[in-house]
Amino acid sequence: MPLVDCKILDLPILHDKRGNLTAVESGRGIPFEFNRVYYLYDVPGGSARGGHAHKKLHQLIIAMSGSFDIILDDGRECKSFHLNRSYHGLYICPMIWREINNFSSGSVCMVLASDFYDEMDYIRNKTSFDQLVNS
Ligand code: TYD
Repeated sequence: MPLVDCKILDLPILHDKRGNLTAVESGRGIPFEFNRVYYLYDVPGGSARGGHAHKKLHQLIIAMSGSFDIILDDGRECKSFHLNRSYHGLYICPMIWREINNFSSGSVCMVLASDFYDEMDYIRNKTSFDQLVNS
């Protein structure tokens, strides 16, 4: 799947003087159904996460608090995204290498994933990834 499919989706905002509300529903307004939610938090300054691709998994990444950068790479080109709004979700299709860095202090990175955790779905070697997508 091409990098062009990976984009920031505007999630709906219910504006309210008491505080805003955003709901994400599986398969509605996002191009996949999710089965798992996980989040990164207490990330030490200077840390980088990611460094892998997924064979079949679809993901939506949301900065629930603070900010961070996500660099996507389809083996041909790279694209960088800065996430800093809890109503923005970065959709990542399968077969995209990602790095996540530049976490602000106290940031929380929430991931909605199409499937349960499966180590077999990971490609953790960049050379193997590049060979696979360019073959
Ligand atoms: P990984 O996906 O490599 O983290 P990130 O991309 O955020 O840097 O996962 C880190 C470790 O956590 C790895 O050993 C697998 C494990 N893990 C689970 O057990 N369950 C999960 O749902 C996830 C996402 C990771």
